[in-house]
Amino acid sequence: MASYKIILFFFYITFLCSSTSKAQPTFLFNNCSSVKTFTANSAFQSDLTTLLSSLASYRTANTDFYNTTVAGQGETAYGLFMCRGDVTLEICHQCVVEATQRLTSDCQFSKEAVIWYDECMLRYSNTSFFSTVDTRPRVGLLNTGNIANPGSFMRLLFKTMNETADVAAKPALDQKKYATKEAFISGFQTLYCLAQCTPDLSPSDCRRCLSGVIGDLNWCCDGKQGGRVLYPSCNVRYELYPFY
Ligand SMILES: *[C@@H]1O[C@H](CO)[C@@H](O)[C@H](O)[C@H]1NC(C)=O
Ligand SMILES: *[C@@H]1O[C@H](CO)[C@@H](O)[C@H](O)[C@H]1NC(C)=O
Ligand SMILES: *[C@@H]1O[C@H](CO)[C@@H](O)[C@H](O)[C@H]1NC(C)=O
Ligand SMILES: *[C@@H]1O[C@H](CO)[C@@H](O)[C@H](O)[C@H]1NC(C)=O
Repeated sequence: MASYKIILFFFYITFLCSSTSKAQPTFLFNNCSSVKTFTANSAFQSDLTTLLSSLASYRTANTDFYNTTVAGQGETAYGLFMCRGDVTLEICHQCVVEATQRLTSDCQFSKEAVIWYDECMLRYSNTSFFSTVDTRPRVGLLNTGNIANPGSFMRLLFKTMNETADVAAKPALDQKKYATKEAFISGFQTLYCLAQCTPDLSPSDCRRCLSGVIGDLNWCCDGKQGGRVLYPSCNVRYELYPFY
């Protein structure tokens, strides 16, 4: 299981009108382990290069999730990517390519890293993390606008998010663990919710992971008009405008 020794508390602001059509994937955050590192020209570096190029070139199959392993000389490199449940394969592929390039430069000597975009996430490690729930590092992103009635809003948010999570965790035919749901706040406002787990998790592990991110909405986004919590294994997002 990938282990991160220090909890990541990080907040930053997302702006309301950043969701117009764009060609480039929208970068959110990355985390490179500074504890688990390798040296230049090591065997692990060459395994990692192979791993990242294999993730970046995986577009033949009809998939928005892929995990792979490179068993090199000694240490093994494990990696996966997942795209948001509703993006096209083309956008998914673009995002994954950009993610591998950015990790290569930003996380130059890290044996473990995770990167999140609006459209995809990608992670790798020298330790196997497939089918395990990883909740660290975590990132909370919030929309700075305040909600007029935070008490009733947060109750509606938790109720709707729980329902979204129940659906996302259920194994569907296409194996995606992804769901969206809307709720009416008042005559003219709608709440939009999204929940997603990596599909290698079991339904109960997915639901457990989503309970964690949903619980963290209090931590990051209490009374705010929008927010998201990102774990390596699952994530949620809500806004008062459609974003999926
Ligand atoms: C990345 O995660 C590690 C461990 O969780 C934490 O110590 C570090 O502060 C994080 N780095 C950034 C840039 O957030
Ligand atoms: C991963 O790398 C760390 C740091 O170099 C090392 O301590 C650990 O034993 C490695 N894990 C495996 C499974 O090789
Ligand atoms: C992908 O992950 C599954 C577990 O979810 C594992 O059984 C399988 O071996 C992995 N595939 C590769 C190529 O590493
Ligand atoms: C949502 O689920 C959590 C447990 O996952 C529970 O503590 C909470 O009360 C639920 N909230 C609502 C409004 O259903």
